[in-house]
Amino acid sequence: MPALRLALSGDAPSLAILAERTFRDAFGARNSPENMDLHCAKCFSPDIQLREIGERGLVTTLADEAGRLAGFSQLRLARPSPAVKAQKPAELNRIYVTAEWQGRGVARALMDQALTDAARGGCDALWLGVWEHNPKAMAFYRKFGFEFVGTHAFMLGNERQRDLIMSVAIG
Ligand SMILES: CC(C)(COP(=O)(O)OP(=O)(O)OC[C@H]1O[C@@H](n2cnc3c(N)ncnc32)[C@H](O)[C@@H]1OP(=O)(O)O)[C@@H](O)C(=O)NCCC(=O)NCCS
Repeated sequence: MPALRLALSGDAPSLAILAERTFRDAFGARNSPENMDLHCAKCFSPDIQLREIGERGLVTTLADEAGRLAGFSQLRLARPSPAVKAQKPAELNRIYVTAEWQGRGVARALMDQALTDAARGGCDALWLGVWEHNPKAMAFYRKFGFEFVGTHAFMLGNERQRDLIMSVAIG
């Protein structure tokens, strides 16, 4: 079972590869290559992930199996959303597991860690946006008590998409 650890600056190149690969695996089949390429160019590169790893208030956690990454999450502490009624909500910005590790508890471990980190950060809710055509992820979030509280727009390249906002209270 992969061990969880905080990302370090030296992880940026491998995190960039992992983040792009898992994003393409999850959404490539249902979106145009152009929009996927635009999004990936905007969001994934060693420099971009290096900045994220160093960003204050953004907790990047890796699932590391003997030096190979099996998944990751990114938790943004103190991130409000108009849809979330809480004093200090945190956002689960990303949670992705490689195809070979899916269904083996890695995402559960990442989610448990995110909830613990958010609670330690004094947050009273955890929320996230999930693409309306991603029922697998929604089912996973419901296991942890997340409920639908609203929607927001998400730009994938040039296409405006609808994310459902899900939230769970902490504490
Ligand atoms: C969503 C995702 C992170 C779930 O990862 P996973 O490795 O399958 O989840 P786990 O094996 O840790 O499962 C954790 C729990 O959720 C449950 N679960 C996972 N997928 C489920 C599904 N489709 N339906 C119902 N329950 C599900 C598991 O049964 C498990 O419950 P248990 O511990 O009580 O047995 C993973 O499928 C993924 O990376 N998907 C692609 C990327 C993605 O969509 N990310 C979210 C973007 S918003």
